[in-house]
Amino acid sequence: MPRILDGASIAAAIKHEVAEEVGKLAARGVRPGLAAVLVGHVAASEIYVRSKVQACADLGLYSDLITPAADVTTEAMLDLVADLNARDDIDGVLIQLPLPPQIDSKRLLEAVDPAKDVDGFHPVNAGRLLAGRPALVPCTPAGIIEILKRSNIPIAGQHAVVVGRSDIVGKPVAILLLHENATVTICHSKTRKLGEITRQADILVAAIGRPGFITPDMVRPGATLIDVGINRLTTRDEFDRFFKGDAKREAAFAKRGSTIVGDIDPHAFQVGGAYTPVPGGVGLLTIAMLMANTVRAAKLRRGL
Ligand code: GUN
Repeated sequence: MPRILDGASIAAAIKHEVAEEVGKLAARGVRPGLAAVLVGHVAASEIYVRSKVQACADLGLYSDLITPAADVTTEAMLDLVADLNARDDIDGVLIQLPLPPQIDSKRLLEAVDPAKDVDGFHPVNAGRLLAGRPALVPCTPAGIIEILKRSNIPIAGQHAVVVGRSDIVGKPVAILLLHENATVTICHSKTRKLGEITRQADILVAAIGRPGFITPDMVRPGATLIDVGINRLTTRDEFDRFFKGDAKREAAFAKRGSTIVGDIDPHAFQVGGAYTPVPGGVGLLTIAMLMANTVRAAKLRRGL
């Protein structure tokens, strides 16, 4: 039986450490603060941002939820970011993505003070990551490294194959794995003979955004499987493809009319030696690392 890499317990351990750090800062009169900017009404984004604000409350951080209307202009968003950059009670500025099409997302993310860029999306932080002197590292990639390290899965010398090349996950996680001395291959939608490459992976990271894209035949027996995908299934056909015969999933699907699958076909998990489940894996680390980054930003900004 493959080992389940339980995101909940790893995230809880990190949050515990963050809460301790928050306690120490409180004794010095410092309360780390996060501004969470949620534009419009994207259902998934609303759920994520609510979880982020709740995590702040749980760990003793200050948070300010700002909710501009869906038709907000780039100029108004730039003014908002300038205001947040200047506020002393705000250590982290998080702009939930995706943004509506009229917003120039790249310009906006570049306007965030790199010292408050707790998502690690600013080109200055991306450059520091590449140069091996990271300050604020993107949360999901940082969380993946925490899962591997805290589960005692060796990285150095291993072949890590990352499927997906996004700025948020694929590229930064590849760089982090490289800094941990893995041999790294990055694959993407134009990669030829993908299965031949993924079958060489000791560590396979799937961050493509396509339900169950990694099938059992693409996995080397015993590999560690890291599933970054969060895909909602709503049709019976889709459900049966991945979860037929799974009584627990069946009950949840009947109740809600949907369920979540990652980028790795759950049947492929059974080929691996260890895997992160969906839900309950990588996603929980993203929030824990955001909290860690916010505390880190608060300390760095004060020279602590
Ligand atoms: N949308 C999906 N993932 C993320 C994330 O990590 N940060 C932000 N800001 N938006 C996202």
